[in-house]
Amino acid sequence: RPGDACTIVIFGASGDLTKRKLLPALYNLKALKLLPDNFAVIGVAVTDGNDELYRQKITSDIKEFATRPVDDTCWNDFAARSYYVQGDFNSQGTFEHLSAKIADAQKTWNLPGNVLFYLAVSPTFFGKVVEQLHGVGLTTEAPNAWRRVIIEKPFGHDLASARALNEDLSKHINESQIYRIDHYLGKETVQNIMVFRFGNSVFEPIWNRRYIEYVQITVAEQLGVELRGGYYDHSGVVRDMVQNHILSVLSLIAMEPPSSISGDSVRNEKVKVLEAIRPMEPEEVLANTVRGQYGAGIIDGKNVPAYRTEPDVDPNSNTETFVAMKLEVDNWRWAEVPFYIRSGKRLAAHTTQIVIGFRRAPLMLFGQEVQNNITPNRLVIHVQPDEGITLDIHAKRPGPNINITNVPLDFTYADFGEHTAATGYETLLYDCMVGDPTLFHRYDSVDASWRIVNPILDVWHALPARDFPNYEAGSWGPEAADHLIQKTGHAWHHYQ
Ligand code: BG6
Repeated sequence: RPGDACTIVIFGASGDLTKRKLLPALYNLKALKLLPDNFAVIGVAVTDGNDELYRQKITSDIKEFATRPVDDTCWNDFAARSYYVQGDFNSQGTFEHLSAKIADAQKTWNLPGNVLFYLAVSPTFFGKVVEQLHGVGLTTEAPNAWRRVIIEKPFGHDLASARALNEDLSKHINESQIYRIDHYLGKETVQNIMVFRFGNSVFEPIWNRRYIEYVQITVAEQLGVELRGGYYDHSGVVRDMVQNHILSVLSLIAMEPPSSISGDSVRNEKVKVLEAIRPMEPEEVLANTVRGQYGAGIIDGKNVPAYRTEPDVDPNSNTETFVAMKLEVDNWRWAEVPFYIRSGKRLAAHTTQIVIGFRRAPLMLFGQEVQNNITPNRLVIHVQPDEGITLDIHAKRPGPNINITNVPLDFTYADFGEHTAATGYETLLYDCMVGDPTLFHRYDSVDASWRIVNPILDVWHALPARDFPNYEAGSWGPEAADHLIQKTGHAWHHYQ
């Protein structure tokens, strides 16, 4: 069924996220008949403009960024339902103007009172925008008039500021109105984790410490900070990737089966995992984490500059662009199973994958030598760029001797004919329009994630890195990351 008829208000309408992801995602939803037939979109930004200019701008943007061919009839209807409000988010006048524009759109298209607000703005405005919306009465719900607010990341800069932001928001709106978005949860393969684990009967019985020796999550990018140096230099990879995307993926891998797939059942289980990850003591931070920053190097045959020389980055910056760490989930299912996570910019490949490493077979039936040469079974969930799942098993090479080799059992999403190019935001926008918060972060999990990463950031802050830059662009990060995992007799897997 399509989402509920509503007005969609996008703050930050002239920004990159809007043109690259949100507009194409809304257009895809419309083409798939998942956007309600009756809707209106209002863009709000400080840039000068009016409805007519805005329609022209989004028409040229969609041509550039759409992920599917643009159908004129479909797009013309979209454009006709689009409006623009120019204004400063600090001024109440902007919100009065917006309120009048929403009322006009509702009258013109005979829309119910439902309004989805998308805050695609700098985090410094999250609290302010919600306060202003509240000030002009736009956050008040009534029958047929839900009011939902999608908040982009980062949610806070550390534990204290995340709590302060949440308190600010909760003065004006309820938790049930807040949709904290994480675009990793919109990725097909990430959503498939739950189906894989709980839609099959064969994996769940072995999904525990008796059979699993380690878990690895790698999110490697080849891109550098591009033009986001100003933001990134105050953030670093732990805030940018680990606190939100990676810990959320980890909790899907490690959680107990929920009793239903409704928002709160799943989110209750996810938060339990995060709460079971013991925050590190300072000496554990030194032993179990490795940070890095890229120097100049070569990627795809091209010279790329060092992080410290990127635009808007402090030339003496101590911000980390790479992290590897070992976490432990202290519960009955996972006690003593290391969870290795690793993420960085300017690495050798663009790949996100989750590796579940199974224990060796208990008896060396085919001789120590044969069996030592084979890697224990592994399950690899490829999140991107090639979405799919591989299970490595062992098989006998044909011939009179017993010779064992690793063979992959592969499944790729590309084999599904109906797989359509998408931005990753479609499911999330749709879910918000139907009021399903399952794939959004509830505040308790945000808080729990900050409690995990904050002690690490504190130690790093107290002991600035002296050896930055410590990895070459185009490599797999600092060597210390390899040593970290070798301590337990494992190695990072580099699946392409
Ligand atoms: C964003 C980060 O949340 O995720 C970026 O701010 C990062 O720094 C991006 O590049 C990675 O997303 P994806 O979908 O390309 O893996």
